[in-house]
Amino acid sequence: MVGLDMTTSARTQVGIVGAGPAGLLLSHLLALRGIDSIVVENRSRAYCEARQRAGLLEAGSTELLRQVGLGARMDAESLEHGGIYLQFAGERHHLDFRDLTGGRWVTIWAQTEIVKDLIRARLAAGAQIEFEVSDTEVTDLSSETPVLRYTDAAGTRHEVTCDAIAGCDGFHGICRESMPPGLLRVAEREYPYAWLGILAIVPPSTDELIYSRHDDGFALHTMRTTQVSRLYLQVPADDEIEGWSDDRIWAELRRRLEVPGWELKTGPITEKAVSPMRSYVATPMQYGRLFLAGDAAHIVPPTGAKGLNLAIADVTVLATALVSLLRDHDPSGAAGYSDACLRRVWRATHFSWWMTTMLHIDPHQDRFGAELQLSQLRYVIASRAAATTLAENYTGYYPLRW
Ligand code: FAD
Ligand code: PHB
Repeated sequence: MVGLDMTTSARTQVGIVGAGPAGLLLSHLLALRGIDSIVVENRSRAYCEARQRAGLLEAGSTELLRQVGLGARMDAESLEHGGIYLQFAGERHHLDFRDLTGGRWVTIWAQTEIVKDLIRARLAAGAQIEFEVSDTEVTDLSSETPVLRYTDAAGTRHEVTCDAIAGCDGFHGICRESMPPGLLRVAEREYPYAWLGILAIVPPSTDELIYSRHDDGFALHTMRTTQVSRLYLQVPADDEIEGWSDDRIWAELRRRLEVPGWELKTGPITEKAVSPMRSYVATPMQYGRLFLAGDAAHIVPPTGAKGLNLAIADVTVLATALVSLLRDHDPSGAAGYSDACLRRVWRATHFSWWMTTMLHIDPHQDRFGAELQLSQLRYVIASRAAATTLAENYTGYYPLRW
């Protein structure tokens, strides 16, 4: 319907802001239970499908994707890892997750591929995803009919009346700021370093991920496929990518990852970027009929790979809560949404803070701090109890239910 002010009006059950993994998966899960949604996204489809981010899934995330019909390409193309290497003081040690956790594992499957599969599945099912929108607004949040407004790529303004709105618009989105001032309590940490990440066309030089604490800074060797490597270097928090030639990056990676008898294979770098590191948790994750999920509500530093897994877990809880609310008129799941998510969020927040501070070199670190790190690392590789703590958190501590 087009009004005099040229705003088009529409109705849906759930208005979803953001076509990242959280928003797309929520739309998919809701559709499986007969709930309609619209997804609005301010970037293009190509941008969303190419944005390089996470690459490692907990066992529960993999099982969920499989269970909801998104497993075909993942099962054919992903890589299963049963452990990691921890490197420090010039030595590399293996942690065997399957042995430590009674069979749990992790999966290398890039966020880009999850997003591609989700967009394809949603569009094939006839879902509405509006890319390249602008001026997204969410209002009337304390009513039973919250409103989502946006301007589409052609310049038409839309007003969508919803039963609920999901803020899946990432850390810099508008939904969190649309909550009443004073409602949110924020707990956060900034770290005095950043990650320089590269994607390189070269087979990985390792079968499983290498996390290395080196006196010159942390390094991580991970991968996307058997032909594509992903590597990260700790760099100063305010460092700029312009200062890092490909040669300098490879030399630094080689130095920080080196052990006798092992060689780092190099190849063309197709992508490089510096990302800041922070922990951030906003509470509550809900106000009235607005629910925040994924990075819109919380950020973890990437050490330990929890960000994407938390986004998947949030929307799994949210989809169940919204189905109860909108189909069965049972508000209990929606009322408990924030608390249910935050238990997992804080476990992941602690784990990623612990991994980060154990493995990175703080520029202000003294001898005492360095010795504590090394002692902790020695304990993790020597004590089965300590190794199990790492393994059960890494592979995913809380089960996911769908
Ligand atoms: P996002 O993926 O951020 O999606 C939010 C979407 O909302 C985006 O598409 C955005 O364009 C859209 N949006 C924002 N504002 C609006 C608006 N006003 N209107 C409409 N749409 C809007 N995690 C790991 O586990 N391992 C990693 O190695 C890792 N690396 C990362 C590297 C970087 C540079 C970043 C930023 C994150 C990384 N993460 C990593 C975290 C992980 O990628 C995120 O936790 C995950 O993307 C969260 O998904 P999401 O859907 O909540 O948010
Ligand atoms: C990644 O593959 O990008 C990745 C893996 C593990 C991490 C962080 C990033 O801890």
